[in-house]
Amino acid sequence: MVQLGIIGVGRIGKVHIQGILSGVPGTHIRGIAAPHITEEIQTLARSAGAEVLTEDFRVLLRDPHIDAVLICSPTDTHADISVEALRAGKHVFCEKPVDLGLVKIQTVIDEVAVSGLKYQVGFNRRFDHNYQALHRAVTSGKIGQVQIIKICSRDSEPPTPKFVPSSGGLFLDMTVHDLDMVRFLSGSEVEEVYAAGSVLVDEAIGRAGDVDTAAVVLRLENGALGLIDNSRRAVYGYDQRAEVFGALGCVSIGNDAPSTAVLSTADGVTSEKPLWFFLERYLSAFQEEVRQFIDAVANDYPVPVGVEDARKATLLAMACTRSARERRPVRMDEFYDM
Ligand SMILES: NC(=O)c1ccc[n+]([C@@H]2O[C@H](COP(=O)([O-])OP(=O)(O)OC[C@H]3O[C@@H](n4cnc5c(N)ncnc54)[C@H](O)[C@@H]3O)[C@@H](O)[C@H]2O)c1
Repeated sequence: MVQLGIIGVGRIGKVHIQGILSGVPGTHIRGIAAPHITEEIQTLARSAGAEVLTEDFRVLLRDPHIDAVLICSPTDTHADISVEALRAGKHVFCEKPVDLGLVKIQTVIDEVAVSGLKYQVGFNRRFDHNYQALHRAVTSGKIGQVQIIKICSRDSEPPTPKFVPSSGGLFLDMTVHDLDMVRFLSGSEVEEVYAAGSVLVDEAIGRAGDVDTAAVVLRLENGALGLIDNSRRAVYGYDQRAEVFGALGCVSIGNDAPSTAVLSTADGVTSEKPLWFFLERYLSAFQEEVRQFIDAVANDYPVPVGVEDARKATLLAMACTRSARERRPVRMDEFYDM
C-alpha cells in the first residue's frame, strides 16, 4: 500500500483526491496539506480516512509513513516543494508545469537524478482514452509514416485576467499540453515552431500582456508537420479534437459529450454539446495518471511522463512565445545553450 500525501487542495487537488477515492487501488491518502483548512477540506480528509491534516506541507515531508506526495499547489511553488520532497525521500507526482523557468526545472532534474526517486509530471492528456487510441493507432503502424498532426484545443471559458501574470501566458499554460501531445504522438522532437497570437476573446487579457487565440505550425525532426489551434473561449464547450495523417491513412478523435443521443426532427438534427471543461472531460485521465504513478512507485517501474518531458514541452512553449512576439519562425537550436 503506497501511503500518499496531497499538497494543495484547490481545483486540481480535489479532482485527484476524488479520483483516488473512487478507484486508484494500492494507495491510501495518509495526509493532506492546505494553507487554509476549510470545512470542505475537512470533509474530504475524513472521507479519505487521512490520519494527518495540516496547514504546513513540511509536516507531510517529515512523516516517515508517507512514501509519495502529489503536488497540487500553485505553479510558483512546484519546483521548491519538489526539491524539498525529494530531499525528504518522497516520490513525487507534480502537476504541470514544473516551473515557468528553465533554471528551476533543471534544479528539479538534478535532484531527481541524485535521489533515484520517481518523479512524474501531470500531462494528463496522455492518459485520456481518446488520445490513447490515437497513440495506439500511430505506434501500431496502421497509418504508416506520420506526415501531419493536427490538434484543436479550445477552452470553454477564459481565465480571469488576474490569472495571466502567474500563468506564464497562453503558450506556457495552455499550448504546453498540445506541444507535449505532438511529441507523444509523433515520437519525434521539434526542430522549429512558428506561432501567431491574437486577442479576440477578452481585451483585459491583452492588457495583461497575453493573447487568447493562437495558431502554431511545427516542423518536426522526422520531417512531419504539426498544427495547433487554441482559443480561450469556445461557446459550445471544451473543444478537444485531434487528427494524425500518415502515408497509409488517417486517425482522428472527436469530443466527448454527456451522451451520444442525436435528435432528428423536421427542424434539423441536433446532438449534445461537448463536456463543459477539463474537470469533466479529463476526469478519468486524471485518475489514470495517478494510477500509473502508484504502479511505478509500488513496482519500481519507470514513470510514464518524466521531468525531462516537462522541460522539453516548456522549451517549446517558450519558443512559441518568442515566435509570436517577434513574428518569425524560431528554431529550437536557439535554445540549445539554455
Ligand atoms: N493538468 C491539468 O490539466 C491542470 C489543470 C488545472 C490546474 N493544473 C495545475 O495545478 C496547479 C494548481 O491549479 P488549481 O487550478 O488547482 O489552483 P487553485 O488555486 O484552485 O488551487 C491551489 C491550492 O493550493 C493551495 N496552496 C497554496 N500554497 C500552498 C502550499 N505551500 N502548500 C499547500 N497548498 C498550497 C492554495 O490554497 C489553493 O487551494 C497549477 O500549477 C496548475 O497549472 C493542472
